Amino acid sequence: MKKTNSSPSPPRQPSPRVPARWKSEIASVLISQGQLQRRIKILARQIERDYAKGDLVIVPLLTGTVMFLADLIRCLNLPLRLDFMGVSSYRQDTRSGRLVITKELRLDVRGRDVLLVDDILDTGRTLTWAREKLLQMNPRSLKICVLLDKPARRQMKMNADYVGFTIPDFFVAGYGLDFAERYRNLPFVGVLQPELYR
Ligand code: IMP
Ligand code: MG
Repeated sequence: MKKTNSSPSPPRQPSPRVPARWKSEIASVLISQGQLQRRIKILARQIERDYAKGDLVIVPLLTGTVMFLADLIRCLNLPLRLDFMGVSSYRQDTRSGRLVITKELRLDVRGRDVLLVDDILDTGRTLTWAREKLLQMNPRSLKICVLLDKPARRQMKMNADYVGFTIPDFFVAGYGLDFAERYRNLPFVGVLQPELYR
């Protein structure tokens, strides 16, 4: 299979302006709506090629994947099934906390091709845990797709098979990603104002 780890860094220029409503909380737009949509179409073509003959089950992690997932699967010209797994790293701020299951998988993935989807691969703890949990269910194959990869903070040996964008070590919010459960509704990925969490 063609690896997609050579994901682009977010294009630097020209950076769209942060809408006035969010300026005090969001320092800058890291990835715009247009950049997200263009990149997601490319990822979808790669996934279609790799799973043309598969029996695909997409397993997104709640809740940060909502926007990415909705945009990704509507670009996928493939028969597929979808079931969410809930895992939360009960954190109040930007540090990772203890992992807690909030929703178990309901679909039987035994013998199926599973694509595990998350919003961002940071330390790697969440996806390491989720991968282990899914492997215990004996899927035929298991690959990982993330919108964002922040390799600078990695603590576990973990790579994704499909990566939207590799980003520097900023705390980002928007397009599904939250800070203290807020900002998920922003249509772009923005960099949080550091004063909010320092
Ligand atoms: P990891 O377990 O450290 O890899 O972190 C994965 C989870 O932490 C993701 O599913 C996100 O929910 C959250 N996370 C990590 N970095 C960020 C960020 O920059 N913004 C928002 N959420 C983040
Ligand atoms: Mg998350």
